[in-house]
Amino acid sequence: MNLFVTGGAGFIGSNFIRHILSLRQGHRVVNYDKLTYAGNLANLETVADDPNYRFVKGDICDGPAVTAAMEGCDAVIHFAAESHVDRSIYEPSAAIETNVTGTFVLLQIARTLQVQRFVHISTDEVYGDILPGAFADEGSHLRPSSPYSASKAASDLLVLSYVRTYGFPGLITRSSNNYGPFQFPEKFLPLMITNALDSKPLPIYGDGAQQRDWLHVEDNCRGILAVLERGRIGEVYNIGGLDIVENLTMARRLLRVMSKPETLLSYVQDRPGHDRRYALKCEKMERELGWKPMISLEDGLRQTIEWYGANATWMAGVRGGEYRSYYEKYYENRDSTLHAIAQSGPKTSH
Ligand code: NAD
Ligand code: TYD
Repeated sequence: MNLFVTGGAGFIGSNFIRHILSLRQGHRVVNYDKLTYAGNLANLETVADDPNYRFVKGDICDGPAVTAAMEGCDAVIHFAAESHVDRSIYEPSAAIETNVTGTFVLLQIARTLQVQRFVHISTDEVYGDILPGAFADEGSHLRPSSPYSASKAASDLLVLSYVRTYGFPGLITRSSNNYGPFQFPEKFLPLMITNALDSKPLPIYGDGAQQRDWLHVEDNCRGILAVLERGRIGEVYNIGGLDIVENLTMARRLLRVMSKPETLLSYVQDRPGHDRRYALKCEKMERELGWKPMISLEDGLRQTIEWYGANATWMAGVRGGEYRSYYEKYYENRDSTLHAIAQSGPKTSH
């Protein structure tokens, strides 16, 4: 198969490309990525010279460039997104542009080029807050809370509308919080691990009692491959780690494994609109595709901590100027930044 992967220079996309090139030797991959702050070709150094791999720099909102790059591809796996909730709260326009408009552009072109399958990578955040004791299945209501999750829900609905209206071969995965190697350190686990490695404070939003379901990225890649190859057209598949942990418990656990003191924990002002709990039912993946997570949180965390410890050069590369100014604004000057956002609204070009 010829695969068109969007956002393949990011965290999950780069893990997926390595995964598929090692498991499916006849497949060819085009990695189409804009290389935003989150895109990093260093994530793909081990496959850069593989004759079955090709990188094309481009924006998914740029129709002619997408058409040229997608030509001849049998399937699309669409990872590209502005993927960080906090950034979408501070400056929502990029999330709306890429996640909604970009997905629309891809759907139009994939339909014109008659691709055989289009796997849209979405998130459990489209279901919003899940009450204690409850779990979201694929039929649960969409109740997104942040500009990020609203933009992902909008793109999911676009995909489903194309299935229904045009007979388009779309499928959707909704996964829980991924962790593992090559994750940009703006997300919770890599931020906590890399700060702990430097003995810097671990910023806990609010009371730290929010719960997330943690999924190792390799388990997610196995699940996405199963959906690509054997999923039913028009269906949504939840992919979760089935391991729900409070943020504070997770931060304490990391500190223990890393032999760092709990005095590094630092409570900071909460995220506006913060979802308290995500929890997924993933029986459909097991029943229809024989998938379930294989990597325990204990093993996955140990492996991930070791990876960040052993990859100081990669870390130095991603913690450059953009990251430093992000960190300064939203962590070191958090109270004044959040106050300014609450007073004057986000800075946006629209
Ligand atoms: P990421 O931020 O690490 O990577 C996103 C990639 O998309 C980057 O390489 C970036 O350069 C590229 N990109 C952004 N805008 C683009 C544009 N306009 N055109 C082309 N490329 C563009 O994200 P990730 O964590 O790897 O997430 C991948 C997908 O999985 C996203 O769709 C996200 O919503 C979804 N998801 C992520 C998680 C998670 O825990 N990380 C959980 C559930 C779902
Ligand atoms: P995050 O990785 O941003 O993912 P999500 O999309 O689920 O919000 O955050 C995971 C959880 O960790 C979420 O409850 C917010 C919290 N969090 C902190 O407490 N401190 C931080 O510095 C970050 C980035 C997140």
